[in-house]
Amino acid sequence: MARTSLHPDVAEVLISQARIRRRIAALAREIARCYGHAEVSIIGVLNGSMVFLGELLRQLPMQTRLDSVVARSYGARTTSNGRVSIRRPWHLSLRRKHVLLVDDILDTGRTLRRICERIRRENPASLRTCVLLDKPSRRVVPFTADFVGFTIPDKFVVGYGLDFAERYRNLPYIAVLRRGI
Ligand code: IMP
Ligand code: MG
Repeated sequence: MARTSLHPDVAEVLISQARIRRRIAALAREIARCYGHAEVSIIGVLNGSMVFLGELLRQLPMQTRLDSVVARSYGARTTSNGRVSIRRPWHLSLRRKHVLLVDDILDTGRTLRRICERIRRENPASLRTCVLLDKPSRRVVPFTADFVGFTIPDKFVVGYGLDFAERYRNLPYIAVLRRGI
C-alpha cells in the first residue's frame, strides 16, 4: 500500500480522512432520519462544499434535487468581512420544497445567514443547514447549523474542499498550514 505523505505546507492534521469519512456517514444517517422519505432540495455553497457534499450526497437515501450557489465576501483574505453578495444564485424553484443548504464551514455566520435570507424569500416548506465544520468562537451574527460534522477551535484550516487562495482543496484531511505560506 502506498504511504500517505503529508503535503509539505501542512503543519498539523486536525482531522484525519478516516474520521471525516465516519462522521459524514453518521451525518447522512442523521439527515435521513430527519427527512424520512421526503424529497430534499440540496443547495451546495461553491466552491467549498464540493468535496464534502460529493461524499455526503452519495449516502443520502431519499429523493434529492441538487443545485448550487456562489457567494463572495469582500475584503479579507482568510476571513470574511461584513459584506456577502450572492454572485450566482440557484436555478431550481424552492417554493414549498424542503431545502438543505450545505457549506464547508460556518465561521462568522454571515455567508449562511445571507443565503438563508434569500432562500426564505422563495417560501420553502422548510430550510435547514449542514456544515462539515463549525467554528462557534468566531461567530459575528447568531447562527446555528442543523447538522454539524465537527466543531473546531479558532484555527484557519484547509483540505476536504476548504481552501487558502483556492489551493489545498484537494487534501484528503483537514489541516492547519505552516506559518508564512
Ligand atoms: P462566514 O461567512 O464567516 O461564516 O464564512 C464562511 C466562509 O469563509 C466559508 O464558506 C469559507 O469559504 C471561509 N472560511 C472561513 N473559515 C475558514 C477556514 O478556516 N478555512 C478556509 N475557509 C474558511
Ligand atoms: Mg472559501
